[in-house]
Amino acid sequence: MARTLGGRFVLEEPRIGHGGFGDVYRAMDRKQPGRNAAPVAVKLMRDASMVDPEAVRRFERELRLLEPIRHPNIVPILGHGKTPAGAIWYAMPLAQGSLVDFAEELHGRNALILDLMRQVGAGLTHIHDRKIYHRDLKPGNILRLADGVWAIADFGLAVDAERATTALTSTLRGIGTAWYTAPEQWRDARNVNHLADVFGLGKVLQELVIGDAPVTNEVPPGPLRPIVQRAIAERPEHRYASVRDFLAALATAIETPRDGWESAEGTAERLLERVRLPKAAEVDLDELATWALALDESDTDDMTALARVLPWISTRSIHYLWAADPAGFQRIFRHYSKHVETTGFGFEYCDVLADFSRRAVKETDDSDVLREAIRSLVELGHRHSRWRVRGVVTTILQGIRKPEPALAAVEALRAADVEAVEWTLSEFSIRSLPPILRNEINMLLSAASR
Ligand SMILES: Nc1ncnc2c1ncn2[C@@H]1O[C@H](COP(=O)(O)OP(=O)(O)OP(=O)(O)O)[C@@H](O)[C@H]1O
Ligand SMILES: [Mg+2]
Repeated sequence: MARTLGGRFVLEEPRIGHGGFGDVYRAMDRKQPGRNAAPVAVKLMRDASMVDPEAVRRFERELRLLEPIRHPNIVPILGHGKTPAGAIWYAMPLAQGSLVDFAEELHGRNALILDLMRQVGAGLTHIHDRKIYHRDLKPGNILRLADGVWAIADFGLAVDAERATTALTSTLRGIGTAWYTAPEQWRDARNVNHLADVFGLGKVLQELVIGDAPVTNEVPPGPLRPIVQRAIAERPEHRYASVRDFLAALATAIETPRDGWESAEGTAERLLERVRLPKAAEVDLDELATWALALDESDTDDMTALARVLPWISTRSIHYLWAADPAGFQRIFRHYSKHVETTGFGFEYCDVLADFSRRAVKETDDSDVLREAIRSLVELGHRHSRWRVRGVVTTILQGIRKPEPALAAVEALRAADVEAVEWTLSEFSIRSLPPILRNEINMLLSAASR
């Protein structure tokens, strides 16, 4: 005899799918009899006896919280309950498939991607406004309902419920879905907020952009790269502050008509006029950052264009860019430094480049920026025999006070060419450095001369 849940949902065997939490069945709803009856999907918890009762209670609470929510982009809960054996179940509309089935079709088609992201984003915003978080966003939980509407299913407590079951299930499950889970969620699954969903949504976007599982955090150069990278930043506070902000940035990146003919050099000239002002407008600086992050760091023309603009921005502008997106600034500075380290420039321009690096180190007070600056300037100065660049390196080193930046500086000097380091640091200038650095540098140089 067919199994009926809640006196209402008649399950059809065999199951149509299974996940970490349970099995999914196609079912008919007795409350809607006759020819109008639409088939539904019922998800039934597996191995109820293995699940921590506290997790079950939390899950039931979450289901009650979700039940009244009606939004086109949230898969509605049509009913829920518990079997006599204590297994939780819930019913939802039967979907045509999930984003897993459509990802390939969407890959690289920005207008379709934007449409999907807007729909999913609308659903997420709706629940975030009610202080509910999904916590398990991934293509398999983004369902395609009738009429091509995308809606989010399987709200998060499934995650908790599952984590509380055998280690084996969690491990098995972890294999396919770990990439979409925010780093902070691994540390403390229960105390995450909407920024974990920004991360998950960012990973979904990354998958659609790269056309493959988002195993690493790499995104190829292009207008969507800065958007993805910001959404999936390691630290929650470096991400977009909300799904709304994320989608606004995505829409701008996709909808801004890009002048197909404008070369990186052309953009550089256009931006330069505006961003070199001492009080450059924030919109112009934002445009500069987005442009810089979209450039291809392996393309000489792109990096030449970056080195043409970036060093001219004011210290105030450095401050703005750093505060707005530290992780983004670090990336831009890394690409810039790599180019400075390996490319030939006019003599005078070497000074402009070095001065920018010095100001960036000072303004950010960041070890990553410091490391890049030292390594690149040591090479730049040596290659061009530019004494002023040498002076800038000494100035940066003289300003170091704390162990962490000192360590970063020593690392940078170790990574640089020994000859270049010897040329840069005279005995006299080494004596002018703070003691934490002096000893390390002397050791480094005496080891090299042996
Ligand atoms: N409403 C639905 N309509 C049709 N098929 C569904 C529905 N919900 C889930 N499925 C299918 O059932 C299968 C298992 O789904 P399930 O949600 O249990 O696993 P999951 O999404 O991989 O993991 P999670 O437990 O994190 O949600 C998937 O292949 C999915 O496509
Ligand atoms: Mg699911």
